[in-house]
Amino acid sequence: MTEDLWAAVDEYIADRLAPTDKALADALDASAAAGLPTINVSPNQGKLLHVLARMQRARSILEIGTLGGFSTIWLARALPGDGRLVTLEADPRHAEVARSNIERAGLAHIVELRVGPALDTLPELESAGYGPFDLVFIDADKPNNPHYLRWALRLTRPGSLIVVDNVVRRGALVDGDRDDPRVRGTRELYDVIASEPKLTAAAMQTVGVKGYDGLLLAVVNE
Ligand code: SAH
Ligand code: DHB
Ligand code: MG
Repeated sequence: MTEDLWAAVDEYIADRLAPTDKALADALDASAAAGLPTINVSPNQGKLLHVLARMQRARSILEIGTLGGFSTIWLARALPGDGRLVTLEADPRHAEVARSNIERAGLAHIVELRVGPALDTLPELESAGYGPFDLVFIDADKPNNPHYLRWALRLTRPGSLIVVDNVVRRGALVDGDRDDPRVRGTRELYDVIASEPKLTAAAMQTVGVKGYDGLLLAVVNE
């Protein structure tokens, strides 16, 4: 009952504020057809990422965890025509689906997709002189979140925004099996942020079509 109501309200909001279009619908269809897991951000969450990137006046975005490129499309659409979005994906099958979804959305000139475990591709980005990014969206394997947060710090500047998805996981954060590496990664992420003087952060619990979870926002201090 409660979860149904969360989903109904989420859909009501999304119908008005995050309506779908051909590129987004095609991206989800192609992802489903290719058997990708349906763990992309919801339409409302995608729109929120878009609004955050606009508030940030972002010209460059780094995304860790592409899947089929659904969040990538929402974020890349917030960039100016000469903006850049780099997105990192470990699974070549996911990357292939994402590449064609991004292409079909007309965003291939803005988005650079790098295939490989992010802990390999992040140092490559740094060596190649990428950054500082105006916004980083962390949404890959949760056990590595403390590492991704440290990399995000290296690849940003004062004023940059770091966004982390799935930071509550149905309350598993406090309630679940703390031996679960995903829960441990998330708890360690909070500890790293709490003891990092370069960051000012808040996390919000969220409900909706994806159930109960949360989103963390951290700004790099001036
Ligand atoms: N941001 C996407 C969802 C990402 S799901 C969206 O909202 O549309 C998480 C993705 O991270 C999956 O595609 C998974 O293959 C990828 N991933 C898992 N481990 C990774 C790693 N070590 N490096 C990079 N990507 C990884
Ligand atoms: C999972 C990953 C996600 O990024 C998400 O938004 C939901 C679920 C997962 O790995 O289960
Ligand atoms: Mg996620």
